[in-house]
Amino acid sequence: MNLNVLVCGGAGYIGAHAARWLARAGHRVTVLDNLSTGHRQAVRWGDLVEADVRDAQALRRAFTAQRYDAVMHFCALSLVGESIARPYVYYDNNVGGTLTLLQAMREAGVERLVFSSTAAVFGEPRQPLIDEDHPTAPINPYGASKLMAERMLADAGQAYGLRSVALRYFNAAGATPSGEIGESHQPETHLIPNALRAAMGNGERLRLFGNDYPTPDGTCVRDYVHVDDLAAAHLAALEYLHDHPGAHRFNLGNGQGFSVLEVVEAVRQVSGRRGLSFDWEPRRAGDPPMLVAASARARQALGWSPRHTDLCEIVASAWRWHAQPRY
Ligand code: UFG
Repeated sequence: MNLNVLVCGGAGYIGAHAARWLARAGHRVTVLDNLSTGHRQAVRWGDLVEADVRDAQALRRAFTAQRYDAVMHFCALSLVGESIARPYVYYDNNVGGTLTLLQAMREAGVERLVFSSTAAVFGEPRQPLIDEDHPTAPINPYGASKLMAERMLADAGQAYGLRSVALRYFNAAGATPSGEIGESHQPETHLIPNALRAAMGNGERLRLFGNDYPTPDGTCVRDYVHVDDLAAAHLAALEYLHDHPGAHRFNLGNGQGFSVLEVVEAVRQVSGRRGLSFDWEPRRAGDPPMLVAASARARQALGWSPRHTDLCEIVASAWRWHAQPRY
């Protein structure tokens, strides 16, 4: 069945990939984005409504202009360090924005939502593989803001019958092979793009944060999941809502952990810059040693499984984008 979907935050990295997948599956897409961190050039599948998700009037106009079957909600600020320094800004955007959107959806009678959540809701992991039953205890305002939003979805399910899926991404990475869209953050804080930029010789040295973690090589281990696999999970979640009322949560990861040094090695291989060097820095605040998803529940319930699980393949797709970014 073809649906009419409002993609809030569809000008951002993961939202744009989801918009592309939706359109390719035959759904109709409209992107709503304030372009604060998103890119106009990333909106290629459907119209752009330039508006802030906290603007109730603008949302009302958007929901009056068209009848939407579902919403995907990617609008968020997502820098852990910034969230610690500016918590009110994060709660305003990520919690306040979600509440305003939920209220507008209810007013318009839109009852299906796929929500962009994060591994940061778990805080310090208690075991190596994190499943959905792992306790949630965020250690920064970013993670807390996403957990609060998840709670709102659960309450809205009880009170108003909202159907929702919260997808907790681990480390989103890579870019679609078409080269039309990719990762473009300002400032860039993530490991893969920073390593690729250093490999391109843009003058910035790669800095690696901490080599004394309790991991096999002393650097942090993360679960890098390809952005197209995340986009595919959003489509699967949309279908899941068709016959699953209530609020649902799934962890999305590749299922394998890779250390910071393994990522650097993959960047060396993919870029051919064998001599890529780096400087060791002290640990970065708030980095847990290891974050790897147990995604069995998503695989079983959504029928989803990641296709691009090889680290070099993920890095190669990011390399193609960073070699010729469109924005
Ligand atoms: N790192 C470096 N150098 C860099 C950038 C990162 O050494 O230039 C290291 C980090 O210290 C960390 C690892 O590479 O050990 C991965 O860092 P990223 O910034 O790429 O990703 P994070 O794991 O910090 O962030 C991800 C998501 C966040 C989420 C967080 C939860 O991007 O949205 O996991 O812990 F909040």
